[in-house]
Amino acid sequence: MMRTLLLLSTVAILSAWAVKCKYDGQDLDNNQIIVVQNAFRIKCLTEDNGSWKTEIIGCVTPDGTEIDAGQKKEHGDKIHECVKSESGQVSLKESKGRMAACPGGQQNGEEWQEKSFKFRCGDGGVVKFIACVGQDGSVINAGETGKIGGFDVKCEQHANGTITMQAANDPKSYECKAKDGSMKKNGQEYVEGNFVRKCGDYGQGKIIGCFADNVGSTIGVNQNVTFGDVIYSCAKDGANYSFKTYSLKPPAVYAMCAHEGKQYTNETTFISQGSFRMKCVTFKNLTSTLEVVSCITPAGVEIPIGAKMEEGDKVFECTSGNVTLKSTPGQTGKCRGTYKVGEEWVEDSFKLACEPYGKVSLKSCFTKEGTEIPLGEARRVPAGYAMECVMVNGNVALQTAKKFDCETNTGEIKKIGETWNEGNFIRRCANYGVSEIVGCYVENIGSVGLNQNLTSNGLLYMCIHQNDQFKFRTLRAQ
Ligand SMILES: *[C@@H]1O[C@H](CO)[C@@H](O)[C@H](O)[C@H]1NC(C)=O
Ligand SMILES: *[C@@H]1O[C@H](CO)[C@@H](O)[C@H](O)[C@H]1NC(C)=O
Ligand SMILES: *[C@@H]1O[C@H](CO)[C@@H](O)[C@H](O)[C@H]1NC(C)=O
Ligand SMILES: *[C@@H]1O[C@H](CO)[C@@H](O)[C@H](O)[C@H]1NC(C)=O
Ligand SMILES: *[C@@H]1O[C@H](CO)[C@@H](O)[C@H](O)[C@H]1NC(C)=O
Ligand SMILES: *[C@@H]1O[C@H](CO)[C@@H](O)[C@H](O)[C@H]1NC(C)=O
Ligand SMILES: *[C@@H]1O[C@H](CO)[C@@H](O)[C@H](O)[C@H]1NC(C)=O
Ligand SMILES: *[C@@H]1O[C@H](CO)[C@@H](O)[C@H](O)[C@H]1NC(C)=O
Repeated sequence: MMRTLLLLSTVAILSAWAVKCKYDGQDLDNNQIIVVQNAFRIKCLTEDNGSWKTEIIGCVTPDGTEIDAGQKKEHGDKIHECVKSESGQVSLKESKGRMAACPGGQQNGEEWQEKSFKFRCGDGGVVKFIACVGQDGSVINAGETGKIGGFDVKCEQHANGTITMQAANDPKSYECKAKDGSMKKNGQEYVEGNFVRKCGDYGQGKIIGCFADNVGSTIGVNQNVTFGDVIYSCAKDGANYSFKTYSLKPPAVYAMCAHEGKQYTNETTFISQGSFRMKCVTFKNLTSTLEVVSCITPAGVEIPIGAKMEEGDKVFECTSGNVTLKSTPGQTGKCRGTYKVGEEWVEDSFKLACEPYGKVSLKSCFTKEGTEIPLGEARRVPAGYAMECVMVNGNVALQTAKKFDCETNTGEIKKIGETWNEGNFIRRCANYGVSEIVGCYVENIGSVGLNQNLTSNGLLYMCIHQNDQFKFRTLRAQ
């Protein structure tokens, strides 16, 4: 605030009378001082030769303080200066005091931030720009160049008062760094996760849309794209971007099979232990089971349950029930891992032979005396009875052969039940190829029953069976 008053102080007027000054219609005595315009003090100066002049000798502040021309006075937060120019112009200049507050109410010396700029309330309530502040909090003093987020930024206050914080270099010269570490040129578009970015000024990759594998083109921000059963939604909410997928299908609840830490869905199959193909079967009641659907031979051939497969000298079979992969010798496979096809060997009382596919067949039995009896046949053993080598209920048995022909001492063969004479005894062929004595025989006379007497021509014939002994006696009849 400035008020100015100009007085032509050199005005001199001659007067024969008591000399007075004239100012604005009033007479002033010598040395009289008046205040004009509430701001200036004017003094009347007269000379004896009758000349006078008025002179501005100082200023008066609104609160009444007098200040001599050329002086200043600080009062409260105001400074008043009474300025006299060479041309004689005097002005009362009002300015703020050193400690005056700033227009925003900040105290002298106080610092504050507005947006990205930092200010201080300087002397006289003058706002001084002191620094720029980056979003990461880094500070660049006014007039200096510093780094914010890796970029050179210049903090400046221009002569016209405008403050700028701007890249020291061409903003377009900065490359963007993608998450994978690759660098992108200004203007280049690139995919980062589910977002499409475009490299903008200052190396800022700006999100311009979303990316989904199935959708060929960029999905714009705040745009939905439907593809198949899925809505892909790219949205911006405030400063946040989101990419979401919504399924149009009602949510399905289903069971899965777990096996060795892995999850399988209905109907999927996998190979377990290298030997079985398992299938996951799930049910509506959310239970699941694993089924074996086939076996896998060591050579990797898959064979269904119930099937056989010859591989090398082995035959593999995928057995049902508790599914197993069974390995048995093949056509040329050794029996019991030892005997070649065609080979024969004796084990206990049996002679065995190796047949194709590892099949062991029984050839014959051996009695303890060493008589060999082919399977299905019977032989008389040295002890006199017959033994047979037969299959009984799936087992091979060496047993006495019930039905076996008898042999007379002359070598004749007799069937079971047949009788014949041998010396003075009558024999009948019984079981086991053994004959039993059923009576005695006297030549030309006839037969005598066991423990019977026969008298003929003065002779008594006795046929005795006593204590398992058979005797034939001939006595003179008395
Ligand atoms: C009157 O006296 C003053 C001071 O002595 C002088 O400066 C001035 O010139 C005189 N004026 C006249 C008209 O003589
Ligand atoms: C102030 O000066 C700067 C630098 O010279 C200029 O870029 C800016 O446009 C000017 N602002 C105004 C409002 O004149
Ligand atoms: C996109 O789809 C979602 C889910 O249906 C919906 O909430 C959202 O409002 C849609 N946005 C636009 C832009 O259509
Ligand atoms: C943006 O994300 C931040 C951090 O996840 C969260 O705090 C903020 O509320 C989100 N803003 C909006 C508008 O969703
Ligand atoms: C599993 O798949 C079979 C064959 O496709 C189907 O019949 C059955 O319903 C499915 N189970 C469930 C729980 O969907
Ligand atoms: C689930 O369903 C299957 C097939 O219908 C049945 O075998 C099984 O017992 C059921 N399990 C339960 C817990 O109900
Ligand atoms: C399958 O194995 C289990 C357990 O080893 C056994 O209890 C069951 O009897 C077996 N079932 C068949 C058909 O072999
Ligand atoms: C046979 O004769 C003997 C000797 O005379 C006699 O002891 C025996 O009792 C007789 N046996 C029969 C069955 O008559």
